[in-house]
Amino acid sequence: MRIDIITIFPEFFSVLDVSLVGKARQSGLIDLRVHNLRDHTHDRHHSVDDTPYGGGAGMVMKPEPWGDAIDDILTHVYPVADLTDAPDLPTATDAGPLLIFPSPAGELFTQAMARKLAEEPNLIFGCGRYEGIDQRVFDHFAEAGRVRLVSLGDYVLNGGEVAVMAMIEAVGRLIPGVVGNPESLVEESHEDGLLEYPSYTKPAAWRGRDVPPVLLSGNHGAIAAWRREQQLERTARVRPDLLPPAN
Ligand code: ADE
Repeated sequence: MRIDIITIFPEFFSVLDVSLVGKARQSGLIDLRVHNLRDHTHDRHHSVDDTPYGGGAGMVMKPEPWGDAIDDILTHVYPVADLTDAPDLPTATDAGPLLIFPSPAGELFTQAMARKLAEEPNLIFGCGRYEGIDQRVFDHFAEAGRVRLVSLGDYVLNGGEVAVMAMIEAVGRLIPGVVGNPESLVEESHEDGLLEYPSYTKPAAWRGRDVPPVLLSGNHGAIAAWRREQQLERTARVRPDLLPPAN
């Protein structure tokens, strides 16, 4: 998967050199490039923001640097195919890269969305700051391509960088080959719509607390039933909104 990130804080993303995503980059499973939005400004101060039309607090990110930065990636990374040379061009990636802008005003990021995004060959993340990006940037690129505003949750971050890191980690680990044992992806919170069951390892007794005896029983049916029960109990207690409506 090719991932491009546009940001005014490229240094944020140095952490993506470590851990599973770092390994996936080294092995070539993820080709990740970070672009500085300020490289696409044309004034002495490299300004990326200005006051909002209509008034109000804060600053809004100017459309021009965003337009140029995205155009640059689109033309250099995804050159438009010359259809006269190849009229029967395969259509698998014809949808083009998916542009994602993290925003508290976006649709909610979920495990289901992460699974969908993991199937995309090309993602471009645009990290907004301040009061957001001029709306025309989204409208312009949505005209010829795919644009999604995506929120991590109902709270406000200072900018999109941390949200993009979270999304890349959630999506990256679903790319085949990134997680060594794919079975470990199956029994996780949200994979089956419920929170995951509690886990235990050795020793069997610690600070007066014993591992639930069923887990030591060797009875796989009983263990599976206990885990399912724990999932349901935990989900009902902590996240009742995830349970299907009772009819
Ligand atoms: N940028 C600011 N707040 C955000 C949020 N909750 N999710 C995604 N991007 C954001």
